[in-house]
Amino acid sequence: MESQRVSVVTGGGSGIGRAAATRLAAAGDRVVIADRDAAAGQRVVATIRGSGGAADFLPVDVASEASVEALADAVERDVGPVAVLVNSAGVLQNVAELATYSMDEHDKVWSINYRGTYLCCRAFAPRMARRRVGSVVNISSTSAVDAMPLIAYGPGKAAVQQLTAILAVEFGPDNVRFNSVMPGYVLTEQMQARIDAGKRDPHSMQGHSALGRMVTPEDVAEGIHFLCSSAASCITGIVLPIDAGYLPAVTYLHHPGLGGVHPRRTDKRPVT
Ligand SMILES: NC(=O)c1ccc[n+]([C@@H]2O[C@H](COP(=O)([O-])OP(=O)(O)OC[C@H]3O[C@@H](n4cnc5c(N)ncnc54)[C@H](O)[C@@H]3O)[C@@H](O)[C@H]2O)c1
Repeated sequence: MESQRVSVVTGGGSGIGRAAATRLAAAGDRVVIADRDAAAGQRVVATIRGSGGAADFLPVDVASEASVEALADAVERDVGPVAVLVNSAGVLQNVAELATYSMDEHDKVWSINYRGTYLCCRAFAPRMARRRVGSVVNISSTSAVDAMPLIAYGPGKAAVQQLTAILAVEFGPDNVRFNSVMPGYVLTEQMQARIDAGKRDPHSMQGHSALGRMVTPEDVAEGIHFLCSSAASCITGIVLPIDAGYLPAVTYLHHPGLGGVHPRRTDKRPVT
């Protein structure tokens, strides 16, 4: 019998990571939920096992080199050879300006979103390379390419994309693929909390998309599943937008001839 593929999902306790872990387990993978929130991670493990899937929880702080190395050792020793890594551990950022944004906040965002992704690639990719099988998916954001008032988060995501492209070429000879997904506004629990706190406007997030809706974690999980599948075996170094058409819509709607009103939407409130 062919052995079960082992996939590691950092940040698998919540949001996009939870949806990706659930999707990969439904496809037959043995999934390791690696998260700093043990209670959340264990809940996801219980749900996956409850639906007949295979999952384990291991704790990690992706910002810590020692913690990430310990995770990689533990997975390979106790679960099996890792074939898929999804780097979804991350934090969001609220709107901020250069002069008043604290360096502690800035460094926290970079240490988790960029350094965490870097450390996990560094720990797992050489192991995949030795076996000549592997697929890594990193999580970018539309703020990597469009200027938003997210002064640490956006540049950090641009760096994640650039790292992904570099590693795709470095590890191409080893048959290890690196790709990014680029979600738009995803309606996770964290995002809902920001909406409830008045820090994000749902009308604006939905309006700034071709499809007039927010992205779900499951939408992103489908893209991640595809990029890790054999159907994507010739795809490496790409950035896959999963944004309900945010990227084209944002410039279209802000054309000075439209004033933020879509010509064919029934909701005529301007999108600002
Ligand atoms: N929600 C969105 O709209 C959106 C859009 C684009 C990109 N993203 C990106 O998607 C990724 C996942 O975000 P989400 O919205 O699902 O967030 P989330 O808060 O729902 O999940 C993030 C998970 O990462 C874990 N985590 C945070 N710091 C960690 C650390 N140092 N070590 C280990 N685990 C840690 C958390 O415990 C949590 O379980 C992030 O990289 C985020 O930047 C999110």
